[in-house]
This record gives sequence, C-alpha cells and structure tokens, in this order.
Amino acid sequence: MPSSSKAYVNGDEKHLVCVTGAGSFIGSWVVKELLDRGYHVRGTARDPSDQKNAHLIALDGAEERLTLYRADVLDYGSLAAAFSGCHGVFHVASSTNNDNDSMVVAVEGTKNAINAAADMGVRRMVFTSSYGAVHMDPNRSPDTVVDETCWSDYDFCKRTGNLYCCGKMMAEIAATEEAAKRGLELVVVVPAITVGPMLHQTLNYSSDHVARFLTGKKREYQNAVTAYIDVRDVARAHALVYELHDARGGGGGHRYLCLSAVLHRAQFVQLLRDLFPHYPVTAKYQDQGDGKPMVKPYKFSNRMLKDLGMEFTPMRESLYDTVMMLQQKGHVTVPALPMPNRARL
Ligand SMILES: NC(=O)c1ccc[n+]([C@@H]2O[C@H](COP(=O)([O-])OP(=O)(O)OC[C@H]3O[C@@H](n4cnc5c(N)ncnc54)[C@H](OP(=O)(O)O)[C@@H]3O)[C@@H](O)[C@H]2O)c1
Repeated sequence: MPSSSKAYVNGDEKHLVCVTGAGSFIGSWVVKELLDRGYHVRGTARDPSDQKNAHLIALDGAEERLTLYRADVLDYGSLAAAFSGCHGVFHVASSTNNDNDSMVVAVEGTKNAINAAADMGVRRMVFTSSYGAVHMDPNRSPDTVVDETCWSDYDFCKRTGNLYCCGKMMAEIAATEEAAKRGLELVVVVPAITVGPMLHQTLNYSSDHVARFLTGKKREYQNAVTAYIDVRDVARAHALVYELHDARGGGGGHRYLCLSAVLHRAQFVQLLRDLFPHYPVTAKYQDQGDGKPMVKPYKFSNRMLKDLGMEFTPMRESLYDTVMMLQQKGHVTVPALPMPNRARL
C-alpha cells in the first residue's frame, strides 16, 4: 500500500487517484499522464502480475508513485479496496468486445465503480465513455454539428448488432444517474476511435484497425466515415477535465467530446498510402450496389475541450506514430526502404 495519499509537486497538492483498467491502451496513457503530472496513482488490473502489465512499472515515476491493485469491475469489494483513500477515480476499464458479456461489464462494472467511489469518499470520477454512445443515429441530419448533446439511437444500435455501443450508452447513463444519486462529481470523456502509439505490447481493437489496413489484411472498406483521436490527447483530456472542469465553468454539462478528425474510410486509406507507400495498403472500396453517394464527413465540435486548453495532435502525426510503434512492438514488418521523416509530415 502507498504510505501517503498526498504529494506536493511544485507547490500544488497532487493527491492519490485510481485508474481502473490501467494496463489498457487508453488506461496506460492515462496512468502515464497522471504520473507525469505528479500524482500518486493506483492502477487496477484483473491480474497485475500478468506480463501484459509490465510496461506500467517501467513508466517514469512508477517506482515511487504507482501501485497496482487486483480488481475486477464486477467485484464491488475489489474496487472499494482500490479506491479507499483516493481523491479521484478514472474509470477506464470496460470490455471492448461486441457481445452481451461486454454490456454487463460496461453497465454493472460502472455501477459498482460509482458506488464503490461514493462509499470510499472519492470526490470526483472521470468516466471513459465512447463515441459509440454519441454518433450512431441514422436519422441525424448531415448538417447537424455533432457535439456533447448528441446520443446514439439505442434501438438502431441493438437492431444492427452494435452491442458495444449499447453497452457504452447504458453505462454512461447509469454512471450519470448513479453519481447524481450518490452525490459524486462525475465528468465524462467521450473518445472517438483512438489511434496513436501503444505503451502496452498486445494489439488492442483500435490499433489493430490501423494494422489491418497497413498489412493489406483489410481487403475492402465501406462507404462510411469514422471519427478519430490520438491516445495521448485522450489521456490529456482525462487529466484536464479532472483538474479544470469546474474552474473553467464546464458550461455545456459534464460531457466532453474527444475527437480531432472525421474521415471517410477512403481518406483514411489514402492517408496511410501517402505516409507509408512501402506498405501494401490495398483495401478497395466495397461498392454495395445501393447507388448511395459517398458519405460526407460530418461536422463536429470539440470546443468544450479546447476551452480547457486542449490542443489536438494532427491525424498524420498520430498515424505515423501508430505505425512506428506497431513496427517497434513487432506487429508489422519493417520495410527495407527508409521510412518517411516525421519532421517532414
Ligand atoms: N480504443 C478505442 O478506440 C476506444 C474509443 C472510445 C472509448 N474507448 C473506451 O476506453 C476504455 C479503454 O479502451 P481500450 O481500447 O484502451 O481497452 P483495451 O486495451 O481493449 O483494454 C480493455 C481493458 O478493460 C479491462 N477490463 C475488461 N473487463 C474487465 C473486468 N471485468 N474487470 C476489470 N477490468 C476489465 C481490461 O483489464 P484486464 O487488463 O484486467 O484484462 C483492460 O484493461 C474502454 O472503456 C473503452 O470503451 C476506447
């Protein structure tokens, strides 16, 4: 157990916080961001000793200020033990599978996290929602600016088998209702498909999305648009809303959309081809023969985060860094020809 729940860094009180799902793609960067900001951090994992979490103890500051706790979000007691004495909790953990079990983990896990946090006297929770809870609405006008007021259409998600989106919607609603009942301050970060370098070793869903296009495994792409964000921006957003939500007013509510680009799949594929001409980015447009025109990227607002001082990483840099890390971790081969220079992006 850490010996103290408070640390003073540059005159500011930097207290003890807990990150659930610390070893995940996003959770690892949230832990890193918080350590870099001087916090004492507890990270939860279902098996902290698993080799897949080894990268956490190698982070700068981890030796002095990071402790890993064993916790399953479906086990209230394990969360309560990890949250005891913490000032803030970042509830990141959630299965990213698209099945009924992941809905249970999302919703019941979130209720457990809120109640454990409230019972343990935690002051503020940052909840990691998903853009899947926001953008899946077939009836939204293409002229609508997607912002924090938007929600996916639950029935549409269910009908089309998007159980992950159903789970994240229900979890965000449960978080908001339970936190209000329990008097816990809640701030929600809503990341889009998250790309960027991995701190962990294994391929997560969104990094695999890039790897599959890069290696040619992805043969076709659909007439669809996708919103993207860099994982380092997602981590910074978690810290910013934790530290500044009230200070800057948070006028639009407690939800913060976290996305920097909306690209048609064709644009995404072209961007990868431009950046990495030596890779077999061979995915072709899958014409569904429905005569529908190419879907246009919609407008979105990330003003709420910009108002907190957030600057977003350009998608070219983000994709470049993603691929460099995929190479470094051995998930894609390194072409014999020289790689483009990042400084020239
Ligand atoms: N990646 C994206 O594009 C994206 C976009 C928007 C939102 N998000 C959200 O961001 C969060 C992290 O996503 P990610 O892609 O970084 O995840 P990830 O790398 O796929 O890892 C999933 C995490 O969830 C944890 N988890 C799953 N079931 C659990 C349970 N029963 N108890 C405790 N922990 C459990 C896993 O913990 P173990 O290590 O113990 O297995 C792991 O840390 C999720 O809430 C996800 O919905 C992700």
